[in-house]
Formats: sequence, structure tokens, C-alpha cells
Amino acid sequence: MSFPSDQKLMMRALRGETLERPPFWLMRQAGRYLPEYRELRQNSKNFLDFCYTPDLAVEVTLQPLRRYHMDAAILFSDILVIPDALGQKVEFLEGEGPVLDPVQCLDDIKKLNPNKIDEHLAPVFETLKRLSAEIPKETALIGFAGSPWTIAVYMIEGRGGTDHGNVLEWAEHRPEEFQVLIDLLVETTSAYLIGQVESGAEIIQLFDSWAGVLNAGQFQCWSIEPTRRIVERLHERCPGVPVIGFPRNVGELAVDYVTKTGVDGVSLDQDMALDWIAETLQPKCTVQGNLDNKVLVTGGAALDHATVNILRTLSGGPFIFNLGHGVLPETPPEHVGRVAELVRGWPASGDGPSASDGKN
Ligand code: CP3
Repeated sequence: MSFPSDQKLMMRALRGETLERPPFWLMRQAGRYLPEYRELRQNSKNFLDFCYTPDLAVEVTLQPLRRYHMDAAILFSDILVIPDALGQKVEFLEGEGPVLDPVQCLDDIKKLNPNKIDEHLAPVFETLKRLSAEIPKETALIGFAGSPWTIAVYMIEGRGGTDHGNVLEWAEHRPEEFQVLIDLLVETTSAYLIGQVESGAEIIQLFDSWAGVLNAGQFQCWSIEPTRRIVERLHERCPGVPVIGFPRNVGELAVDYVTKTGVDGVSLDQDMALDWIAETLQPKCTVQGNLDNKVLVTGGAALDHATVNILRTLSGGPFIFNLGHGVLPETPPEHVGRVAELVRGWPASGDGPSASDGKN
């Protein structure tokens, strides 16, 4: 028997319903903290090839669901498939993360080729088609992409974790040129995400992991505006498919992000104060977050306390439980199991002995 998509907890929460037990999933819920992931991954030298192999990508997407029964499955892929599909050289080096041949001038931007995106990313669409047939009937399927700003950071800096000097210099001093790149990313990302929905994605998440390096004016131009254009396109072409935005580390600018981009949900990092979220953001939009991924590594009473505290503060409005950023590779899998138990047992789990001191 099929279960109507609009009755899934994730879809109800994203329509603004307040649920007794919030749905949950975790950013990077598939990955190196799971031994069954590491086992499959060790057979593939190249991470992108691994992402482009539907058999493997489907299996790895399902692994955390089998253990923890999250309310959503997130497509196993990476945000950097877009620069890869545009023809930029992208590699994942062991212990270093992604390394790209940096885009350095307008000519480099003009060499990027958006015409082969669909063909190049066909395995991702195939993965989604298979997943939509294979995931449990009450589980929602999330597709995703990086926001243009965050993708531009990787394309121009060539890696993450830099001081962002090159990309900020470009955006500030040659904004018309930088706009050419942003426009290209708005177009290709919108088309890619529409393709994901046509292949079975029910929800889209846009990761703006480096939004926090922008000042208020830059944030408006390079994060909010391109995101707004993508959300508008998706809402037009894929009615009923909610979009969650993740403007990481932007603090109170998240209010502007929510009101101006038109996202249906906002994913929040662990630095955002819970009471402020409940008072300021939750009346405007479904909120998602924001357990500290380092507390998930620590476990024990600290983990129980933090989890229950979030559940108590945010369960009074539309809410999806998640982390503030992705699961870290050193996370003991049983700590993820404990969080799943507390969320799925909510509200009764809030009365338990280890949680009773978690009121503030
Ligand atoms: O389970 C899921 O969340 C789905 C899969 C997923 C991955 N990356 C798989 C992955 C998703 C949604 C992403 C998003 C992503 N990728 C972001 C946005 C979220 C964030 O973390 O801020 C970013 C910035 C990237 C770029 C990226 N990919 C980096 C910086 C790294 C290296 C860091 C690391 O954890 O290794 C990756 C590699 C990556 N992407 C891995 C996985 C499972 C690890 C690869 C491996 O197995 O070696």
C-alpha cells in the first residue's frame, strides 16, 4: 500500500504543522562514522566515481536508515558535482577534502560548459529513481545542491578552509564578472534540482556552508538573491516541493534569509540560541537543527541534555530535528542511536532520569 507523500512527517513539518514528535534526519547521516560505509568506500579510489555509481550511492543512502529509521533519506552525492559537471577539475584527496583547479578569470568562467550537465549527472537522477522505489514508505527523499555562493567559494579558492581572500576580492572588486559565475550557477543548479525532483526527490535542501564569511551587504547580493531565484524557479516548476535553506554561521541575518528567499524551512547551526530561534524564526518558517556535532561525538549525559533541551524548546512549533552541521567521522554510531531513541520517543523521553536535569 502506498503512503501519501503529503502525509510524511517531513512534509507535514515543512507545511508548517506542529507535530507531537518532530521528524529527524542528520546532515551527513551516511558517511565515514559507519563501518559499513567505510567498507564499501575502501573499494573505490575516486570519491566522485563512487557518487556516480547508482548501486553504491543507493546502498550508502540506505545504510543509516536501516540502523536508525530516520524520517528522511538524503541522496548520497556531493555539492561539488556541479563544478565537475561544468568541466572544472575536481578531486577529493585523502585527508584533505576537495581540491579544484581554481577558476581565475572571466575567461576561465567562459570555458565552463553547462550543456553536458544533464548527461554528466544522469547517474544521480538514476540513484534518485531507485531510491524513491526502495526507501520505506513513510520516509521522505531529500535531494540537494550547494548554493551558488558556496559553490563559487570552492570554484575560485580551489578548496575549503581558506581565508576566502580570492573569492571575496573578486566579488568586491569585479562584481559584474563575479555575477556571470553566479548567474551560471543559478541556471545550472535550478535545472539540476528540477531534474532531481523529476527523478523522485520530494524535498530540496540548499547548502550555503560558507554564507557566514559574507557581511550583511554581500550576504544580500551573493547568498540571498541567488537563493531567492532558485527557490522561485523550483516553486514555479515543482509546486508542493518544499525547499530547506542552510545559511550556515549567519547569526541573526537568518531572519532576512527566511523572509527574502522564500524557503519553506531553514536549517540552523549550533551557534544559534534556541530561545531566539523559537521566538524569532519559528513563527515565520519551519526550523531545522541544531545539535552540536561535537556533542554527538561526546555522548553520555551531555548528549541527552542537549538533545532534550532542543526538543523542549523547538517542539512547540514547526520543527525538524537535525544537527548544526554534518556528522563527524569520529562519531560513535551508538551515539546516533541514542539521539534517534530520544527523538522518536518524544515527548515521553523528556521525562526520563538522564534528561530531567535538562530544563535550561
Ligand atoms: O549523508 C549526507 O549528508 C549526503 C551526502 C553529502 C555529502 N556531502 C557526502 C560526502 C552531502 C549532503 C554533502 C554536502 C557537502 N559537501 C557540503 C555541504 C554541507 C557541509 O558539510 O557544509 C560541502 C561543503 C561538501 C564538500 C565536501 N565534500 C567536503 C568539504 C568534503 C571533505 C570533508 C569530509 O568530510 O571528508 C567532502 C567529502 C564528502 N562528501 C564525504 C562524504 C560522505 C567524505 C568522503 C569520503 O568518504 O572520503
